Amino acid sequence: MSPENHQHAPLHLADESDAAAALAEAESGQNRFDEIIAEDSRVEPRDWMPESYRKSLVRQVSQHAHSEIIGMQPEGNWISRAPSLKRKAILIAKVQDEAGHGLYLYSAAETLGRPREEMYDQLYSGKAKYSSIFNYPARTWADIGAIGWLVDGAAIVNQVPLCRASYGPYGRAMVRICKEESFHQRQGWEILYSLSHGTEAQHQMAQEAVNRFYGPALQMFGPPDGDSPNSQQSMAWKIKRFTNDELRQRFVDMLVPQVEALGLTLPDPELKWNEERGHYDFGDLDWDEFFAVIKGNGPLSRQRLEHYRKARDEGAWVREAATAYANRQSQDQAALIGA
Ligand code: 3HC
Repeated sequence: MSPENHQHAPLHLADESDAAAALAEAESGQNRFDEIIAEDSRVEPRDWMPESYRKSLVRQVSQHAHSEIIGMQPEGNWISRAPSLKRKAILIAKVQDEAGHGLYLYSAAETLGRPREEMYDQLYSGKAKYSSIFNYPARTWADIGAIGWLVDGAAIVNQVPLCRASYGPYGRAMVRICKEESFHQRQGWEILYSLSHGTEAQHQMAQEAVNRFYGPALQMFGPPDGDSPNSQQSMAWKIKRFTNDELRQRFVDMLVPQVEALGLTLPDPELKWNEERGHYDFGDLDWDEFFAVIKGNGPLSRQRLEHYRKARDEGAWVREAATAYANRQSQDQAALIGA
């Protein structure tokens, strides 16, 4: 045997035993993971998890984070035009909450091993998805009411079940997010209620805003179940607890009494109580439009990304200065400890 072979023989054996150990670890990891899911307990960042579970969570959580960040734009546009100081203060608080939601969610995705800069880059380059709804413009002050009532309302219906998501950091982030979304929904309701009970022109403006946002808000729940490639697996992993159509139905059932209390109507002639089903029937949504929007062809898709890129570029010097300051602080700290 050549000296070369002498060297390789034990290494080869070591490789094999490493591979066997890795396999055994994956098997016991998979068993433990299956138990956690079966007993409806929580997977934590330190736990072994299948790569496909990790990947799907990063996908959903990062898209969710991007939605919160891009979602600041339609409302941010109205901060300087809010009709009173009180309305302006409330709107600023709401937009700040959305930024916070984005940050909790990026943190949750980071615990899965995805670097934050990578997620930012995906949004920057236009590769990442974010919620379809934020590609629509907020044309009037009443749209801010409709966004709060319908968009944050849909977000609550979708996100309350996510508080029980099997991945611990995601579920825990959702608890606080949902509390804040409740406040957002009420502020939207209150704007619409005031307008609906104001002058004829204000009432009309509120109705038109509801007409514009109703369909796109229902589409926030995702494509119909038959066209939802991720739902089944996400439900088996207890990330999602209900299908897209189940939550959409729950939302419509909730909206009908609320719109009556607002003194407005929903723009759907097919909306009708179905005694047998115990739910409201409602008309088909424009799914061609939905798929065009999520491919980046929404009414304001291009502008939303341009605005995000501009803000990120213009803020680069702040991030650099903050990083330089933090580095300097830790060097000073290290020097003090060393002294
Ligand atoms: N907008 C954009 N993309 C959407 C979408 C929507 N409304 N609905 C579905 N999609 C995308 C999915 O991301 C998926 O794309 P991918 O496979 O390339 O990742 C594809 O369409 C197929 O849809 P699926 O139904 O198979 O996808 P999911 O099982 O992930 O379900 C979801 C979609 C219901 C949005 C789910 O991901 C989810 O519950 N996400 C968390 C909540 C969330 O992200 N909400 C966004 C709004 S945030 C918000 O409302 C902020 C608040 O302040 C108002």
